[in-house]
Amino acid sequence: METSDLKRTAAHLMDKSKGLLAMDESTGTCNKRFEALGIPQTEEYRRKYRELIVTTPGLEECISGAILFDETINQSVTDGTLMIDVLKQKGIIPGIKVDEGTIPLDRFPGETITEGLDGLGKRLSDYYNKGARFAKWRAVITIGEDIPTPTAIKTNAYNLARYAVLCQQAGLVPIVEPEVLMDGNHSLQQCSEVTHQVLHAVFNALFDQHVEFEGMILKPNMILPGLESPVQDSIEAVADATIECFLRCVPAAVPGIAFLSGGQSEQLASERLNAMHIRFKDKMPWELTFSFSRAIQQPALEAWKGDDKNVAIAQKLLYHRAWCNSKARRGEYTPEMEKE
Ligand code: 13P
Repeated sequence: METSDLKRTAAHLMDKSKGLLAMDESTGTCNKRFEALGIPQTEEYRRKYRELIVTTPGLEECISGAILFDETINQSVTDGTLMIDVLKQKGIIPGIKVDEGTIPLDRFPGETITEGLDGLGKRLSDYYNKGARFAKWRAVITIGEDIPTPTAIKTNAYNLARYAVLCQQAGLVPIVEPEVLMDGNHSLQQCSEVTHQVLHAVFNALFDQHVEFEGMILKPNMILPGLESPVQDSIEAVADATIECFLRCVPAAVPGIAFLSGGQSEQLASERLNAMHIRFKDKMPWELTFSFSRAIQQPALEAWKGDDKNVAIAQKLLYHRAWCNSKARRGEYTPEMEKE
């Protein structure tokens, strides 16, 4: 695969006024979110929900790429058009989640490893032929007593790098997602230290596997205090800790960084991204944007509730969150926009 094609895809994904929409919840995760709202947990309801998302009017003004789950890539909207073609017609690049979720890391209690490398090369070329041009693999790191261990960090970094090189071989831009979870009562400083270690390990592994940094995107966590931490730091402190960490750990050759939201409130996710742009304008060598699932979708899902008559209002809410984040991605967001 030509490096120039990967670079072109990455540049399109990192459009200066847009971000990514993660709509790649596994069947289990999607069903859990449906269950909480009393929505039937069937393939047809998952299809209807994804149709609502991809047909949202104006979505392409704020979203450059959408990450799909395997089930969705084969599904169509009501008029028979494949979802992936609906996205392409809007100029939104289709991507695909290719990891197969996490399992416990044997002999390392409380830690996990992400599965999905077996047969991955073949799956990637099938996805390329279906029209996907980028992929995603999520590794999960938990902060707790005596964890993460160096072994868990190294093993997950190695798998991310193997995945990334296979993607580039198949013509797909790899989104490399090492997520340090927000769960726990750790401090901002602890999250910063762990994220430093993880990013160093990930970029060492990517370098060892000859991954081209110019043809990949990093999808990290923001540096945040744990959800149960008694100290919840200011928006500015989060912005500073996050960008200072990336300036030390993420090579300038990487075209872009696109955050996961990780369970933050929708508004905080926008405010924090916005603050990073305001405080580090012209100091960042990469593009900095969002690749949110919950922080874009949640209000729309809650409004839809599985009922066709709520589709229009749910689409308005989805568009609004994508729009707020596209503003934050340029440092132009204000909390007043929440009322618009
Ligand atoms: P959240 O934004 O809900 O964290 O999801 C992003 C994602 O893609 C997780 O892999």
